[in-house]
Amino acid sequence: MAVLASEIDTLLQRAARIAADYLESSLDRDQPIVAWRAPEELEALLQLELPRVGRPLDEVVADAETFLRHSVRTGHPRFFNQLFNHLDPAAVLGEWLAAVANSSMYTYEAAPVFTLMEEKLGEKLCSLAGFDQGEALLNPGGSVSNLMAMLAARNRSFPRCRVDGFGPAERPAVFASEEAHYSIARAASICGFGLRGARAVPCDEHGAMVPAELERAVERAAEEGLTPFFVCATSGTTMAAAYDPIEAVAEVAGRRGLWLHVDAAYGGNVLFSPAHRGLMAGVERADSVSWNPHKTMAVPLHCSALLMRDRGELHATFATNADYLFHDTDEGNRDRGDLTLQCGRRVDALKLWLAWQAQGDEGYRRRVEHAFESVAAARRMVLERDGLELVREPRGCNLLFRWVPEEWRATPLAERPVQAMDSVNVELRERLKRSGRVMLNYSRIDGRVALRLVLTHPELTAEDLAETFDAVELAGAGSL
Ligand SMILES: Cc1ncc(COP(=O)(O)O)c(C=O)c1O
Repeated sequence: MAVLASEIDTLLQRAARIAADYLESSLDRDQPIVAWRAPEELEALLQLELPRVGRPLDEVVADAETFLRHSVRTGHPRFFNQLFNHLDPAAVLGEWLAAVANSSMYTYEAAPVFTLMEEKLGEKLCSLAGFDQGEALLNPGGSVSNLMAMLAARNRSFPRCRVDGFGPAERPAVFASEEAHYSIARAASICGFGLRGARAVPCDEHGAMVPAELERAVERAAEEGLTPFFVCATSGTTMAAAYDPIEAVAEVAGRRGLWLHVDAAYGGNVLFSPAHRGLMAGVERADSVSWNPHKTMAVPLHCSALLMRDRGELHATFATNADYLFHDTDEGNRDRGDLTLQCGRRVDALKLWLAWQAQGDEGYRRRVEHAFESVAAARRMVLERDGLELVREPRGCNLLFRWVPEEWRATPLAERPVQAMDSVNVELRERLKRSGRVMLNYSRIDGRVALRLVLTHPELTAEDLAETFDAVELAGAGSL
């Protein structure tokens, strides 16, 4: 039975109420980030079976409300678990309207407005990176942007590969720091270089790549008979938010003939801030840049941009000219479907364009600067508290720290039992998660567990930070 216009109207009004309440409650500090439940308990509660006969829309909407109630409020100021957090209402509107328009980004004729919008966004992002002749494409995530950059580099260095595949003697090698995102190694494996073709370059004490080590790694790979052709400098590493020195990496890349990719999926937003853009000095020398608006520009997942310094490289890498899709029309040269590894592609441009209209460059600059202020405040608090220790001096917008139980506070780091310290911190983090007061993540840094705070939420206050560290101390002492 057809759904009537009045029914859709009622449904969307109800959906708008649900969404508004949810977004508002995400910012309510008295609400838990999540009412934590184990998978079996949640399964029993939600009743996710699919029906044989359809149910009234009213009931379906009521279900949706329940699902949101049991989800994680990722917009909560004390949600530090991922590299994304709050949402811009304008971006949410864009996401909804893109779903309503239900188009695909492959051709101008299917998506005229959104094609022009994506071009405009590309121009702007490229200009922020200093790419005068560049182009950009929106992708479903930084991992895809990184993979596409590597494929474009492969196409330039091994031009026969696209048609004939690799020759028996060709063994390409790529380089990224030991703290780079795993998508680089995975891309190397997908591209056919093998995980062994992805070489990890040592970092300094802040987690930034050491350019001299890059040079050594390139030399070693060449001695082994590999062909080095691609290096990824990370701007904002996943754990430490460290920035690799792009200028120095570009020098090595220039000398060795490597494609320089900058993975700024997380940290690219510093380009909005005159005070902090120096962290990416030299970015205009890169061949490509990944930058995820869905991480720090408050746009719902997915929204990742791949910026190319030279127009035409994406087309040269991906075009197959399928004639059932791309036609020889007057406007056909605006089709973007041959610039990507996808066929159908979501309209991610609308949400970013609308959010940008609402924020302006200035809004994004303020957010970056607020994040750096939050880092400074959080760092001071860690240093002031006896039970907490700083793991790294922060360079970007994450803070790495750990809890030190009283009995080990006087013991130098190297003499503390690694396993016992690690389990105390992992256990503490579980307690925080279950309490709903704080969600943060962890990983091993220099062989020991470090807790990570992602400090990019624009509503984050000193009180939130104090509440966070209070909760950490309580959880560490086993009282949460
Ligand atoms: C530095 C960096 N690059 C790439 C990615 C991958 O991005 P996505 O999750 O959008 O695939 C991440 C994700 O956290 C990241 O931190």
